[in-house]
Amino acid sequence: MPSAAMWLDGLVSRSGDKRFNFIVALRAALGSALRPRTTRRVARAIPEAGKRTPHVTLVGAGPGDPDLLTVAAARAISQAEVILYDHLVGPGILALAPPGAELICVGKRSGQHSHSQEAINALIAAQARSGRRTVRLKGGDPMIFGRAGEEIEHLERVGISVSVIPGITAALGCASSAGLSLTKRGVSRAVTFVTAHAREGDATEPDWARLADPKGTLAIYMGREAARRVGRGLTAGGLSPDTPVLAVENGCRPDERHHRTTLGAMAERGVAAGDGPTLLLIGWALEARVLEDGAAHAGDALRAGGHVGQGFGHD
Ligand SMILES: C[S@@+](CC[C@H](N)C(=O)[O-])C[C@H]1O[C@@H](n2cnc3c(N)ncnc32)[C@H](O)[C@@H]1O
Repeated sequence: MPSAAMWLDGLVSRSGDKRFNFIVALRAALGSALRPRTTRRVARAIPEAGKRTPHVTLVGAGPGDPDLLTVAAARAISQAEVILYDHLVGPGILALAPPGAELICVGKRSGQHSHSQEAINALIAAQARSGRRTVRLKGGDPMIFGRAGEEIEHLERVGISVSVIPGITAALGCASSAGLSLTKRGVSRAVTFVTAHAREGDATEPDWARLADPKGTLAIYMGREAARRVGRGLTAGGLSPDTPVLAVENGCRPDERHHRTTLGAMAERGVAAGDGPTLLLIGWALEARVLEDGAAHAGDALRAGGHVGQGFGHD
């Protein structure tokens, strides 16, 4: 829809008549007020720390490569005065922070949670209340298996506004990096993001029978340690043991590794990934890349019958 500014500009250009000169003056006077809201926001002078309304920018850091940050995320990081980040956020991304910014790691590792979620919520709120430009930086997309909802709810409950900058989630980053399309005409018509990791103390399993769709692709987050369970659940749910599986470890990072297998083999032996974040991609859309290319990667740890790695980052 044309803005008022565009309408005035059009009126000016359509008229060579001096009677319309006042429109030019009016256009100049109203110029800043008529600019789009986003432009005005950027141009506004930044108030001193301590005098600002408390606000948190929740930023998705993507899967690891700083080149995969959005422009908005890179800008927010480069203007931050304090950044509270998770373990999944790589050093290349934190290097974009200005020299004076305080970097606070609030990450969690399975088995050794450094901070409870309540402590993290309180820490973010305290930083925002100090008036510093506060960025909460999370790996991938903050809204996918990132507990962003809990943090947003807490901050809004205590009167702190939150804005969100999305990031590339691991499933999409890993698929691109492996040259895989997660959908394929006539083969896969759906992509499902699933976590294999439940709340602490929650022993319920995902509904494997419902997820076992031979015409879909599954992206299993936090699935390395649970790989045998995932394989058993999906084969019991009806998926063929021959279904291709690609485990991508450290996707979009210099040390990215691929572990190729099938669902049946994974049910028996798990995946042989190391301790980096690992995503399991499962489905027939992967067939060419996993089963056919697999011959060219016969040395992959999984085909050699490796074992499940030690826990890190909830895998
Ligand atoms: C707590 S979830 C966070 C997901 C994140 N919010 C996202 O959108 O990607 C952590 C899990 O994401 C997956 N993951 C995150 N980054 C990854 C990467 N670079 N390579 C492979 N898997 C990754 C792993 O399964 C890891 O255990």
